[in-house]
Amino acid sequence: ETREREKTNIPSLKIGFNKVFGYYIEVTKTHRDKVPEGYIRKQTLVNAERYITQELKELEERILSAQEERVGLEEALFKGIRQEIVNHKGPLKRDAELIAMLDCLQALTRIAQKNGYTRPVVDQGDEIDLKAMRHPVLEEVLGQDAFIPNDVHLGEECARFLIITGPNMAGKSTILRSTALTVLMAQMGGFVPCESAKIGVVDKIFTRVGATDYLSRGQSTFMVEMSETANILHNATEKSLVILDEIGRGTSTYDGLAIAWAVSEELLKIGEKGAKTLFATHYHELTKIASRDQRIKNLSVAVKEWGEEIIFLYRLIEGPANKSYGIQVAALAGVPGHVVRRAKEILEEIEAQGHVRLEQEGGEPEGLKKKAPRQLTLPLQCPRQCLRLKKAGEYIRDVDLNNTTPLEALNFLAMLKQEIEKG
Ligand SMILES: Nc1ncnc2c1ncn2[C@@H]1O[C@H](COP(=O)(O)OP(=O)(O)O)[C@@H](O)[C@H]1O
Ligand SMILES: [Mg+2]
Repeated sequence: ETREREKTNIPSLKIGFNKVFGYYIEVTKTHRDKVPEGYIRKQTLVNAERYITQELKELEERILSAQEERVGLEEALFKGIRQEIVNHKGPLKRDAELIAMLDCLQALTRIAQKNGYTRPVVDQGDEIDLKAMRHPVLEEVLGQDAFIPNDVHLGEECARFLIITGPNMAGKSTILRSTALTVLMAQMGGFVPCESAKIGVVDKIFTRVGATDYLSRGQSTFMVEMSETANILHNATEKSLVILDEIGRGTSTYDGLAIAWAVSEELLKIGEKGAKTLFATHYHELTKIASRDQRIKNLSVAVKEWGEEIIFLYRLIEGPANKSYGIQVAALAGVPGHVVRRAKEILEEIEAQGHVRLEQEGGEPEGLKKKAPRQLTLPLQCPRQCLRLKKAGEYIRDVDLNNTTPLEALNFLAMLKQEIEKG
């Protein structure tokens, strides 16, 4: 550009580029008469003319082909490096594995030192006795002072099957997960987050925890829950450790409780002693099962009532929880006050009617008999006078499909049909 400026003596001469004409030389109209002979006019603008020259064309070609060449070279180099890596893939993979292993081992060592893990006693016995156990991740996140350690004891004869009750957020899942993790860490040869630990080797650890998002795979939460439960029932042995976190949650209360109950019975039938199990549940009714079998033990996570509120103590104590505190937890979570108050009213109504009882023919087991036959006014059981045709739509809208069994739905449909036919 400078050279062309000096050669032509046009100070405003510029070299530019656009996609249509490529490189060009732009000269303002005022200097048009100074344009030398070799310039070829390409484009006329309001205030300027654009030219090309033979030399510029040649330069342009060189620049453009250089770009192509650069891309080609880059690709060739990249492919070369790739090939080089492939040629050494064996040793490289081995190195990566070794480094990963070292990384793991040193991480385990460091955390064991930092958080005061202990060397577990692992034997062929049938007992698991964990003293002052912590959750390795939560302890790290919350800090050692904030985390409340707990003892978990699974016995040989007694207390092989622990039912842990307590409100939501009380720390049930944490105890379950810590136990499974501790056993796993011990059996892989690591130190464990306990003050002391005695672990009879287990052959498998089964877990049914959390409702992770399987919906994208086209399976409902309940289906996932049940197929995992089925897998446990098919494959657990009396040497296995089974962790069940709230099974039966994905369906209606009675279905869920019935399934939880039957699954518990079945787990106790495995082998001679039954599978060692930790079962966290919000079905208080299930705690009644303990009175029938000395292998079952009720535990709960302590909470303290403070006026209207509850305080979580995160301490595992003997005996079942006496209340579910669901409404208090809802309030803690920020559900609006009037909704919480309304929930309390509804709860009182339900409790007064003795509706939340396991309905079972023959009245077994004790304490689960339906207290009052009076039915609660829920959409599925509404009094006839409100089932007039014009209201049918509203009732259908109010049905909670996620909590309706096929049988309930069929009954509801039959009722609707009957009412409509009566006119
Ligand atoms: N032992 C503990 N010490 C301190 N905080 C705990 C402890 N256990 C649980 N928490 C806290 O309570 C939360 C809820 O615990 P979680 O085990 O999920 O309760 P649940 O299963 O009973 O609903 C955890 O995310 C954690 O922050
Ligand atoms: Mg939980």
